[in-house]
Amino acid sequence: MTERERVRSAAAYVAERVALRPKVGLVLGSGLGQLADRIEDAVAVSYADIPHLQASTVQGHRGRLVAGRLNGTAVWAMQGRVHYYEGYTMADVVRPVRVLGELGVTTLIVTNAAGGLNPGFQPGDLMLISDHINFFGANPLIGPNDDAFGPRFPDMTNAYDPELRALAKAVAEEAGLVLREGVYLGVSGPSYETPAEIRAFRILGADAVGMSTVPEVIAARHMGVRVLGISCITNLAAGLQPEPLSHEEVMETTVRAAGNFARLVLGIVARLGQQG
Ligand code: HPA
Repeated sequence: MTERERVRSAAAYVAERVALRPKVGLVLGSGLGQLADRIEDAVAVSYADIPHLQASTVQGHRGRLVAGRLNGTAVWAMQGRVHYYEGYTMADVVRPVRVLGELGVTTLIVTNAAGGLNPGFQPGDLMLISDHINFFGANPLIGPNDDAFGPRFPDMTNAYDPELRALAKAVAEEAGLVLREGVYLGVSGPSYETPAEIRAFRILGADAVGMSTVPEVIAARHMGVRVLGISCITNLAAGLQPEPLSHEEVMETTVRAAGNFARLVLGIVARLGQQG
């Protein structure tokens, strides 16, 4: 079975159960999945029930697709994602995003929890992703290219859509929210970084570091889906704070930032709905 056949069979399963055809997709990162509970007239399908999709094994990730209206706009939300460090293949990691693309999503808002490297960042800050650095040592497009998804060598110059970034900044300003901006460096994890790695990543130009997003964004861009990325800075990266890093700290900060995160995303989603 080809990857395209897997994606089509998963999308067909979902399409049979959900009538709505949202153009906006939302990937909700660690601890940020609660936003999906604000979706009205929600219809949910568990990854575990969808052919070829995998359930997330990580605390803070629910593992289902939810369709409905968020602040007036039809959306698909991925409530939880699977990560490369869970042992899944890159194809597994990006399959839900490809399924959303197959279902007609043309704009993807990708969110995550990340460690802050930029000395101006505080835990609880929200950061618009301006660009990324792929440090996974892998790429979801390795292997035979399926031209039905996209080209062999997709351009990544504007991986994070400039118009969507301008829209996010306008929404933040109107809402009086502080929105940082910077480069997200993606690593496989699951160990957190060493202080030496963080110093190296800073020299490379990273403002935030995390264990997701990069594969999904590559797959989305491959399919021509435009992308907006938002990181919730949950901690200062290794060596920049006195305490050791922990998933508990990450989860606690997402709870603290949830209000601002929701205001930002709800505002962006409403504007996207007006664009039609
Ligand atoms: N490093 C990697 N991933 C993360 C971090 C971090 O400091 N915080 C949240 N996700």
